[in-house]
Order: sequence, then C-alpha cells, then structure tokens
Amino acid sequence: MDLFQHGHADLRALRENAPVHRDERTGLWLVSRYANVRAVLADPKTFHPDNALTAITPIPRPVLRTLARSGFSLPPTLANNGTPTHAPLRRLVARYLTPVRVAAMSDRIVELTRERLDRLTGPRVDLHPALARDLPAIVLLEIMGIDDVDVDALKAWSTASLELFWGDLTPDRQRALAGPAAEFHRWLSQRIRSARGDDLFGALNAAGVSVRDAAGLCYFLLIAGQETTTQLLCAVFHGVLRHGDLWSRLDEPGMAAHCVEETLRREPPVNTWRRVAARDTELAGVRIPQGAHLLLMLAGSGSDPEVFDEPERFCPARPNARKHLAFGFGPHFCLGAGLARLEGEVVLRETARRFPGLRLASTASPPMLGLLSFRAPLSVDVVLGDEDQLARGGTRFQQVVGAGGVGQG
Ligand code: HEM
Repeated sequence: MDLFQHGHADLRALRENAPVHRDERTGLWLVSRYANVRAVLADPKTFHPDNALTAITPIPRPVLRTLARSGFSLPPTLANNGTPTHAPLRRLVARYLTPVRVAAMSDRIVELTRERLDRLTGPRVDLHPALARDLPAIVLLEIMGIDDVDVDALKAWSTASLELFWGDLTPDRQRALAGPAAEFHRWLSQRIRSARGDDLFGALNAAGVSVRDAAGLCYFLLIAGQETTTQLLCAVFHGVLRHGDLWSRLDEPGMAAHCVEETLRREPPVNTWRRVAARDTELAGVRIPQGAHLLLMLAGSGSDPEVFDEPERFCPARPNARKHLAFGFGPHFCLGAGLARLEGEVVLRETARRFPGLRLASTASPPMLGLLSFRAPLSVDVVLGDEDQLARGGTRFQQVVGAGGVGQG
C-alpha cells in the first residue's frame, strides 16, 4: 500500500485483515481500527508523541547543515512534547483559543468570506485560491494578535515545510524545500526576540520561554493552525457538492456544522498521526517493540463500521459524527478544533447563501495533496451559477451605508 496515496479501499482492507501491521517500506506500524487508534492516543505513558514532527523522508546531511546554519530546530513544545513542559506551553497557547475568543471571530470570518465572494467572477472559478487559501491564515494571525506578517510568504513557507517533513522526497526536492523552511524559522526567531506586548510572540517572551523553544512552537502552530483549515475547506466543498441536494439545505439549522463534521470523519485533512512506543507492549494481540513508530490511520478510524454505521455514506444527520478522531484525542487534542469548525461552518454557509446554484465543474476526482499526514483536494473547480441577488444586494447595501457614515435607525 502506498502510504502517500492510499484510499478508502486500502484502509478497509487494513482494518479487516491487518489492523496492526508493519509497513515494510517505512518501518511504520499502521494502526487502523478506531478502538486501537483511540487507545494509543489515550495512553501517553506507553505511546509518546516525540516523533510527531519527524521528517518521514530522512533529511540528508548537507540539507541538515543548511537548516542548522539558520538555527533551525524543533525542540519538544506542543505536538511533539511528552515531557512536563507540555502542559504549561499548551495553557499559554490555549489562552488565545478559548471558546469566547473563537466565537468573537465569527463576524470577522463572515466579513473575510464575503470580501472574497464579492471578488469572484464566473462562470468558472477555483475556490481553493479564491477563498480557502489565505482566509484561515488571516484568522489565525488575528486571533494570535500578530499583525505584521506577509500572508503570501507565510503560505509559501508553510506549504514548503509540510512537504519537507511529510513528503516522499528526492534529495533535490529536500534541498529546495529547506530554503523556505529555514527562512520561516529565522524570521520567527527574529520576530520573537524583539516581541513586546500581548501578542503570542510577546506572551512567550514574557513567560520566559527561550527563543529556540518559542520559535519551534510557533513554527508548528502557524503552519498547523491554518494549512489544515485550508485543506478542510477544500474537502468540505467537495464533500457537500458531491452529495445530492445538501448545497441547497445549508441554511437549515445546524446543517453546515454537521457537514463539516461528516467531512472530518470521512475525509480528515490530517489523515494520519504518529506516536512512538515507550516500551514493549501489545495492541490488538500484536507485539509492538519499544521504539516502534506507529502511524495512526485517523482516516481509517473515521470509517470503522464498529463505530459508524454505513461509514461510506456522507450523512450529516449521523448522531455520533463528532466521535471521530480527526482532531486527535487525549492530552494533545487539537487546540484549534473549535476555530477550524467555526471557519468551516461559516465559509460553507456564506458561500451557499451567495451562490445557491453553485456546482462542481467536473465529476472527475480533483488532484490531491499526497503527504504522509495531510490529504486534501488541491482544487475546487466550480461553476458559480446564479448568485442570490438578495444576498449580494444586502452586502452592497451594508457597505454603502457603512462607507457613507449613515447612522443606525
Ligand atoms: C481542520 C483543521 C485541523 C485539523 C484536522 C487538526 C488536527 C490536529 C491533530 C490530529 C492533532 C494531533 C492531536 C493528538 O496528537 O492527539 C492536532 C494538534 C494540534 N493542533 Fe490542530 N488541527 C486543525 C486545526 C488547527 C488550528 C486551526 C489550530 C490553531 C489555531 C491547531 C492547533 C493545534 C495544536 C497547537 C496542536 C498540538 C496540541 C498539543 O500537542 O497539545 N489546529 N491538530
């Protein structure tokens, strides 16, 4: 099975025939049943997160030297930290992502979505660059209080970094990707060194976190906190538009949120995640040696028929959809789950309101991002169809009123 390209049929075969299985090519132990994936995530003493950010294609020495020269390092901070420093660092970041702060971003997400929808000109458009690409990055930076980032540079740095750490790569490609990854890390270190005030960088400084740890933490957070949501948005458009009349029902109470949840269950953007065995142990009757690297098939767990009836059906009414493990489980559960869910829900609903006749331009499968732990459509080619004149008129009216300074009532 190709770990960078596999599909649902491969995952089903694994779950049925080899739920804990060593992949010869990579040496990774694949864990595909829901109960086993959850058990591993719930037991951080036996299964450490230390390998979460390790490059899957070992980085050759000359490329490592390039990274080291720029001071690049990823010490244990959040996702890859099984030590006692994890909890305080997690608390520090969590302060920026409380339910109250996330809910307060709702109007801003609506505004950013509408700005992008206003700019769409049909009949055909790719919603990935036009809508999904930069919006999550802007939202993340704003909620973290960071206001001086070139968003295009951030996107280039982060897509290069994802590929460098999770791609199936040649040494030439690794060399090319190391440049932007190092540049991002260097930029972060400089920015953190001079940070004051109450943005995330300033808070890390004020808490006495070393520049090395803070840069490692921010490197992961500023990538994970927005690339994944871009991927979710692309997946959710495909999920909804491929399934019957769902597009026309997104204004029903809860419908957009349920569609986001079904997408996370069936097509999670983070489709696998890693752990390392801290001691000899056993899983589903299979002996796992100390030091074994496990690949938890989060996508496989979301389609396990032991937990989800008719798992291949995209069914927003599914009562237990939120049981999926797309955001992980246990002490490392995703800190941005609420924000990602909100962005998915708002963007989906606003787009359907504006373009009720929107449909996929083709029934062909889109090109997919094929990294070890990230899987999502790279394009969302749609035909816009007729827009809702009322919705568009409403937005324009508000803009005119706002710009003209006309008071309330
Ligand atoms: C659809 C979008 C997203 C998906 C699918 C996703 C998925 C995940 C997964 C699978 C983990 C590992 C959990 C574990 O080891 O148990 C994780 C961790 C994490 N995520 Fe997300 N994530 C998303 C969005 C975000 C956003 C928007 C942010 C920040 C605003 C974020 C911040 C983090 C952080 C900080 C961690 C590490 C937590 C820790 O180790 O304590 N993620 N995420």
